[in-house]
Amino acid sequence: MAGNWKMYKTPAETQTFFEKFRPLVEKSEHCEIVICPPFTNLAAAVDAAKGSPIQVGAQNVAWAKEGAFTGEISGPMLKAVGASHAIISHSERRQYFGETDETVLKRTQAALEFGLTPIVCVGERLEERESGNTETVLVSQFQKGIAGLSEQQFAKIVIAYEPVWAIGTGKTATPEIAADAHKVIRAQVREKFGKDAADAVRILYGGSVKPDNVKSLMAQPDIDGSLVGGAALDPVSFASIVNF
Ligand code: PGA
Repeated sequence: MAGNWKMYKTPAETQTFFEKFRPLVEKSEHCEIVICPPFTNLAAAVDAAKGSPIQVGAQNVAWAKEGAFTGEISGPMLKAVGASHAIISHSERRQYFGETDETVLKRTQAALEFGLTPIVCVGERLEERESGNTETVLVSQFQKGIAGLSEQQFAKIVIAYEPVWAIGTGKTATPEIAADAHKVIRAQVREKFGKDAADAVRILYGGSVKPDNVKSLMAQPDIDGSLVGGAALDPVSFASIVNF
């Protein structure tokens, strides 16, 4: 269960969040818990999470180790601050910052090279769904991005299905719609990396996950977890999602 804080919270607010959140999930051993705050809060989050089962992730990672890449943060830098995960290719990166399938693969490989677990996002836009192209889009994103990994690399990633029309809109995909998309993705994994890889990979659902809909989403066998935006900003609401 991963929380994506997007561009919200200061280090002080991060500390306050953890003070309230930690006791609510201290005994939650049924899942991994990851919080992905803005880069500027990573150190505060790692510090606040010490001694708890909560892991801390970044929202992006550069494809290079270091260099003239103004505005980017590299894998070794994230590792050094104590991050364990990195979200890659979130649709907001694609929409506003020119992220492409090619850069997705490069960033995913860099995350793996530097010891971070990539949470690789895929998902269709509203017009793609309405024109009946959901499957084509998911297959294409998979083929151009994730399919470029080796079997060993693939075994270490987490996939997140996030239909763009459901992000921050309050429009959750129904559990059936989400499960159908997860099946498409898992079938791609099976074809490319084999049955064992398809059974083992965790596919998270993201898009308006809330305490009152998480149970029905998680009841779908193909949905293995969730990537939560808005509802992960509040400690009580994210804890009730984690503890669904
Ligand atoms: P949301 O965001 O839960 O606010 O819809 C999900 C995401 O973008 O990861």
